[in-house]
Amino acid sequence: MENRRVLSGMRPTGKTHLGHIHGILENWRGLQDEYECFYFAADWHALTSEYKNTSVIKESLIEMFIDWLSVGIDPQRSTLFVQSWVKEHAELHLLLSMITPLGWLERNPTYKEQQEELGDKEVGTYGFLGYPVLQAADILMYKGNYVPVGKDQLPHLEITREIARRFNYLYREVFPLPEALLAEVPILMGIDGRKMSKSYNNAIYISDPEEVLEAKIGQMVTDPQRGYRKDPGDPEVCSVFSYHRIYTEPDLVREIDRECRRAGIGCRDCKNMLAKRLKEYLAPIKEKRNYYLNHRGEVEEIIRDGTERARGVARNTMGEVREAMEI
Ligand code: TRP
Ligand code: SF4
Repeated sequence: MENRRVLSGMRPTGKTHLGHIHGILENWRGLQDEYECFYFAADWHALTSEYKNTSVIKESLIEMFIDWLSVGIDPQRSTLFVQSWVKEHAELHLLLSMITPLGWLERNPTYKEQQEELGDKEVGTYGFLGYPVLQAADILMYKGNYVPVGKDQLPHLEITREIARRFNYLYREVFPLPEALLAEVPILMGIDGRKMSKSYNNAIYISDPEEVLEAKIGQMVTDPQRGYRKDPGDPEVCSVFSYHRIYTEPDLVREIDRECRRAGIGCRDCKNMLAKRLKEYLAPIKEKRNYYLNHRGEVEEIIRDGTERARGVARNTMGEVREAMEI
């Protein structure tokens, strides 16, 4: 039983978009059938980049849980909680920082990358360098065996394993070594053909009203070679088609593929079909979302309950940690 635990977190730094649902949340939802899952809001991690603009964290925190619930993360089966409400994360972070060699953090490939990406937010801080140590604390606290993450998080998971190994070696075998569970899904493009991200301003949000959704699909880049309706297109290089692959039934996808290549279908029709499909896909999600938006008290209670449960586990682990370290 102990080796069936899944743990993952997401930073509350803005609105949920289709990339989150497709790349992460659908994976989380599926794992609930097989594992005991802990899913949390990594609000302290959000603080490493948003420390000057902390309001975004508070504003997106409850909304993020509402979106999780709307896509089928089930509080009856999974423990949903807020990182900063379980203060033990800070203590474990501090203790693990004592045994983490600086070199591991400085060599972390995502460290330099993110520093460049987030340049204007000034992440040359101590807290940001320690980001992976805090993440290790999150994971090890619950003795998570599997961590569903995107490829970009693999270096962090490797550091977590190294820290766990070092702790177990220095003191006593307390932590299992967690493994990544990579979602085998293609990355969702933004409407401009780059990876979907709020910082690129190319995302489709759950909260987008239908007109906005339609307008965004209208702007999506298609095969750039297809200048006129009579020109045949190449679906392989078209963002709209990459969406059809995900959201449209396979028979219709094959038909679109064929018709695009012989100019039997125009991009406008193709986009209209996609808009219709996405609206159908989002309808039940939005319906649940509206419910929870109107029942925030219920959501807050779910998170309070989950945090209480998480705290119980965290306290136990911290007891073991202090005992192992003899402190
Ligand atoms: N770093 C993760 C991200 O940006 C968020 C995160 C924080 C996390 N702690 C975690 C993910 C623990 C998995 C496990 O996506
Ligand atoms: Fe893309 Fe569809 Fe236009 Fe082909 S018809 S280029 S798949 S939008």
